Amino acid sequence: MNGPTKATQDPTPFEKVVEFIDERVGLKTIQAKMLNEPVPGGSRWAYAFGSCLLFIFILQAVTGILLMFYYVPSTDHAYASTQYIIHEVDYGWFLLSYHFWGSSAMVVMAFAHMSQVFLWGAYKKPRELIWLVGLVLFGLVMGFGFTGYLLPWDQRAYWATVVGVEIMDKTPIAGDFLARFLKGGPTPGQMTLSRFFVIHVMVLPAALAGLAGLHIFLFRKAGPSGPFRGTPEEIKAKTDYFFPRQIWKDIVAMATVFLIVCSLAFIEPVVLLEKATPDPGDYHPEPEWYFLFLFQLLRLKIFGGQFGQFLGAIAIPGAFMALLAALPFIDKDPEKNIFKRPVALISWIVVMTGILIFTVSAIINREFLD
Ligand code: HEM
Repeated sequence: MNGPTKATQDPTPFEKVVEFIDERVGLKTIQAKMLNEPVPGGSRWAYAFGSCLLFIFILQAVTGILLMFYYVPSTDHAYASTQYIIHEVDYGWFLLSYHFWGSSAMVVMAFAHMSQVFLWGAYKKPRELIWLVGLVLFGLVMGFGFTGYLLPWDQRAYWATVVGVEIMDKTPIAGDFLARFLKGGPTPGQMTLSRFFVIHVMVLPAALAGLAGLHIFLFRKAGPSGPFRGTPEEIKAKTDYFFPRQIWKDIVAMATVFLIVCSLAFIEPVVLLEKATPDPGDYHPEPEWYFLFLFQLLRLKIFGGQFGQFLGAIAIPGAFMALLAALPFIDKDPEKNIFKRPVALISWIVVMTGILIFTVSAIINREFLD
């Protein structure tokens, strides 16, 4: 005897719940909109950088919230509570080390994403706003690194902040105000820690979440930029939908990033230096590795003296960021293929090589000083 056909079967409890939510929220429409987005020219690994950035950010938020259950943002307790997380809390060392390496992963991924969209000419019309919002997001990512570095309140944290705030102080017009606001007193103390903490756990996450939403909204409106190879018919024939091929590539890339960050946390867990004091002793102040190139640049003779320091720390990086912001408005050539844009390719190679050389020489210099 034949049993009831599928059409006549009663819905399962799960299907009933989905139906209930769908009627009220429009779940299936949202799902269809999110997943059935066409990807002209087919899915690509290159599109996974942005998704990986989002993924790292979400995990940074989750691990950050878990750390906040134990961390105390006061100069009396910040160091001790971080030591407590490392030595007493179950898997606390892993949580903190994951969060620490996650921040480096975010900087590396932001660099990779920025390089990809630059090399592929994805900043060009009509994606100027996506690029500009991206630049602000990049600033926020660096801001997370700078403000988070102080929180453990050890010598490394304290002195990197002293150096960072001194550099900020050199900015014309707003520099003095910004430096005074961040320090909250003549030397870094409770006000500094409180302000860095609030910026790190509230201001920056809110700004990043909002701007990332705007970034993706603008991207969805413009669609991926290519460059696509082949005739319009061939490109159309290759079109995929976001689900399943692009999602699959994104998931593989996110899982790889996750495994790398976990491995780094295991291999090189966070170890604190001595508790912060206003006396550096034998310690040579140094910022996080992704600011090292700038730190090394400032050691060059031509950047000695007040004016030189202003030039190296503020004027040159500021002019570089301004140039990046103006890029989509200067470069109006619709050509996107990087091999037909020699100036873009050579500029990218020069900048990357410069950053690499300065970072490596800062690390060699550190070994020498130690
Ligand atoms: C937290 C930081 C960021 C997040 C979460 C993020 C996220 C994303 C995502 C999900 C996409 C769509 C897929 C893709 O092409 O990867 C995208 C595209 C894009 N992003 Fe970002 N992004 C960030 C930072 C940046 C930065 C620093 C820039 C450059 C200054 C940038 C410029 C762009 C551009 C131009 C596109 C369009 C790419 C295309 O049309 O092919 N983004 N971003």
